[in-house]
Amino acid sequence: MSVTALIGAQWGDEGKGHIADKLAAESAIVARYNGGDNAGHSITIGQQAVRTRLIPAGAFHPEVTNILAPGMVVNLKSLGREVDELNHLGASLNPDRLKLDGAANLLLPGHIALDGATETVRGSHAIGTTKRGIGPAYTDKMARVAVRAALIGDPDKFEAAVREHVAHSNRLLALYAQPALDAEAIVKEHAPLAARFAPFVADTTALVHAALERGDHVLAEGAQGTLLDIDHGTYPYVTSSSTITGGVLTSLGVGPKHVKRVIGVAKAFCSRVGAGPFPTELLDEMGARLRGTGANPWDEYGSTTGHPRRTGWLDLVALKYSARVNGLTEIVLTELDSLTGIHPLKVCIAYSYRDEPLTNFPTDIATLSRCEPIYSELPGWELDVSHVARIEDLPLAARVYILQIETFTGVRVSCVSVGPKSEIEVSRCEI
Ligand code: IMP
Repeated sequence: MSVTALIGAQWGDEGKGHIADKLAAESAIVARYNGGDNAGHSITIGQQAVRTRLIPAGAFHPEVTNILAPGMVVNLKSLGREVDELNHLGASLNPDRLKLDGAANLLLPGHIALDGATETVRGSHAIGTTKRGIGPAYTDKMARVAVRAALIGDPDKFEAAVREHVAHSNRLLALYAQPALDAEAIVKEHAPLAARFAPFVADTTALVHAALERGDHVLAEGAQGTLLDIDHGTYPYVTSSSTITGGVLTSLGVGPKHVKRVIGVAKAFCSRVGAGPFPTELLDEMGARLRGTGANPWDEYGSTTGHPRRTGWLDLVALKYSARVNGLTEIVLTELDSLTGIHPLKVCIAYSYRDEPLTNFPTDIATLSRCEPIYSELPGWELDVSHVARIEDLPLAARVYILQIETFTGVRVSCVSVGPKSEIEVSRCEI
């Protein structure tokens, strides 16, 4: 069969977790392809909202094999905590159901210390990272000094590699005038984790290809969002992994012919965590309204950091860019219900840059930070849409909003979520 790529189409936090959980039910494999425990995906198990950081959305689907693919950076401490938490809730994640690719890179304490140190040195230009060590872990991967998961099955080699890595990190930390890390303590902490997770190590690329040959379906689950992509995002205010469709191919080791569906998850408005340009940001009461009070788990507060997210109107210029760089075949629109009662609604359809209209999204931050949004106003609606089950029962203005997204991006909206637990499948949006 084929691979479905599930991609964050904006700056992350689009509500991918819930959609991934739904798609997992139809998949033999769910593979997380990028990032590490900087992600925070929300899924609902019974009445309980559960947050996952590393573990893919197939955790609670007994038939699904969950993969941590080579493109990830994995903190074994976090993994241990998360497996315990999810197993406590009934996930039964064992070496048959959870596979850690040997080529995935381990995220070690030196990375976390360096993430903090580099953010401090950046001062007012800090990226606002999650301080989980993501940037330094990918730096080590590219510098070819990382410790790969394949080593955890060999205690002696693993210990030697960890010691070498601590020495490497300490040399860098010294440059930032930071205290050295204690190699003994790190070895002591990581040896039992390595022993615990050694049976989970596998060649996941082979598993993915075997599944495809059997005719099974594979879901590639992304973390963060397109505009945080290391190559195609708003560099340097990005994460350090490939968040886009290209990242699926390199991480899972599959060719483009296998990827039949590329689903971009986009919120009906925009939000961003951390620093960096955000043309449609609202620093007023409307921004606060979109953010929510924090009383609900789906309000706009970082699930990893707890920080209030920056919020703003839907940016169609950015979404169209995202559709292009990912080759989106469909959009899943989330949180449409959050727009109920807002009149008029605004969507950004171009930027004004030095008094000239700009219709392409510039990833160069010097340009982007000087872009003023040009808005189109759309009518709002009053009806509480959170119980609507069919597209034709949505208010006309809501359907016009969806149609505007489809027309502008050239990508069909295949599903709309109207509440924390409810989606409407859209075969065709008509007004
Ligand atoms: P890092 O991934 O921790 O290095 O953070 C880099 C940037 O990506 C920061 O602006 C973070 O706020 C942002 N970021 C990282 N993970 C997420 C996420 O899951 N959702 C939204 N933003 C994220």
